[in-house]
Amino acid sequence: MSVYRVQGGRPLRGKIPISGAKNSVLPILAATLLTGGRSRLHNCPDLRDVGSAIRILEHLGCRVLREEGDILVDSSMANRWDVPHQLMREMRSSVIFLGPILARFGKAQLSLPGGCDIGQRPIDLHLAALRRLGVKIREQGGDILCEAGDLRGQDVILSFPSVGATENTMLTATACTGVTRIINAAREPEIADLQEFLRKAGAQVQGGGESVIQLSGELPRRDVEHTILPDRIETATYLCAAAACGGEITLTEAEPEHVGTVLQCVSEAGCTVRSGGRTITLWAPERIKGIAPVRTMPYPGFPTDAQAPLMAAACTALGTSVFLETIFENRFRHAAELARMGADIRISGRTAIVNGTQLHGARVRSTDLRGGAALVVAALAAQGESVVEDISHIDRGYEKLTDKLTALGCQIERLKEG
Ligand code: UD1
Repeated sequence: MSVYRVQGGRPLRGKIPISGAKNSVLPILAATLLTGGRSRLHNCPDLRDVGSAIRILEHLGCRVLREEGDILVDSSMANRWDVPHQLMREMRSSVIFLGPILARFGKAQLSLPGGCDIGQRPIDLHLAALRRLGVKIREQGGDILCEAGDLRGQDVILSFPSVGATENTMLTATACTGVTRIINAAREPEIADLQEFLRKAGAQVQGGGESVIQLSGELPRRDVEHTILPDRIETATYLCAAAACGGEITLTEAEPEHVGTVLQCVSEAGCTVRSGGRTITLWAPERIKGIAPVRTMPYPGFPTDAQAPLMAAACTALGTSVFLETIFENRFRHAAELARMGADIRISGRTAIVNGTQLHGARVRSTDLRGGAALVVAALAAQGESVVEDISHIDRGYEKLTDKLTALGCQIERLKEG
C-alpha cells in the first residue's frame, strides 16, 4: 500500500501548471460515445478516475489511445450497452455513461455507481429526468435496466441543480426528438465545457453554465477536437496549501474566474492575490487569519470539493473559522484525522468550528479524495513528519502531486509500505 511521507513546516515557493479538470474530462469522455467517430481531447489529466472511464469505453467497444496529455477515442465500433459491476464500482462518475449509452444504443444496463463515501449520493434526480424524456427504467437489485423507447424533448425541472443529473440529461437529450429544456440546471464550468464539446460534435445546445439549458435533439456525429478546461479544485487545493504554509506560489494554465470564491476566502484571511489571463500568484503570510464563514453551495458558490483543503488551512490560522457544508451530509470525515495533527475542530451537524493552532506531524488516513488532499495540506504545514495513508483516494483526482509539490519546495515522497 502506498503512502505519502511529508516533512512539514516549510513555506511554499515556486511555479506549477494546473492540469485539466477531472470533472470535465469524465463526462466528455462519456460523450465521445455519442459521436460514433473520432475525438481527440487535449489537456487530459493522468488520474485513476480517467483510467476507469477509459476502461468503460474500451468495454463498450471503443478504441482508446493515450498520447501524453491527449486521449483519442474512436467510438465508431462501439457495440455494447452494459457496464459491468466492477467498472461501475470504481467511481461515482460511471453513472455519466448512462445518458450516452442510451442515446447511442436505445438501451443500457448499469449497476449503482461507487465513489467517495461522503454521503448517500443517490441517483434519483438522474433517473427522474431520464424518465421524463421517455426512458423506461427498471431497478432490479443493484442493477438499472433502461429502454429508450420513444425519446421526446421535454421541460425537465431539476429539484436541485445536480451536476451529474444535468450532464446525464444533456447527453440523453441529444437523442430526443424536439427540444429539451433543463430548468434549474447546474451552472458549474464543467457543464459549459461539456456543452462546448457537444457543439463541436454538431449538437444544437445553449445555456450551458446558466440555469436553463436548451438542446434540440439530433445525435451529434462528427470528429471532434477539444481542450479540457483547467481543474478549479486542483487550483483551489494548491492555493489552500500555500495559505496553510505561507510563501509565494504562481499557478499557470489556471482559470482564475472559476475559483473566485476561494480567492476571496484566502484574500480575506490575509493572503495577497494577483491574477491575470491564465495565471494566479498568491503571497501568503506566515500564518493566515481565521476565515470568514464558508458555506458550500452549487456554483458559483463556494465549492464543496474545496471545503476540506480550506479547512486544513484554517486549522493553522490565527483565529476561528466556521464551515457550513450544505451539499453532502457526510463531508467532515477528514476532521477526525486532522485532529491527530493537533487540529481543534468541533462538528455539530453540518457545521464545523475550527480554532487555528500549530499542527504537528502524525500518521493519518485519507477518508476520501478531497479529505485526503486536506491531510496533505495539513501535513505540509505541520511541524515534523507526517505519513498519509490510503492515498489511492488522492490518486483519483490529483495529477503528479508529488512532482508539483516538490517543485514548490515541499518535502514529500511516495513510498510503498507493507
Ligand atoms: C459532482 C462532482 C463532485 C462535486 C459535486 C458537487 C463530478 C465528476 N463530480 O458530483 O466532485 O463534489 O458535483 O459539486 O463532476 N443528489 C441527489 N440525487 C441525485 C443526484 C444528486 O440527491 O440524483 C444530491 C447528492 O447526494 C448531493 C447533491 O445532490 O447531496 C449534489 O450532487 P451532484 O451535484 O449530483 O454531484 P455529482 O454530480 O455526484
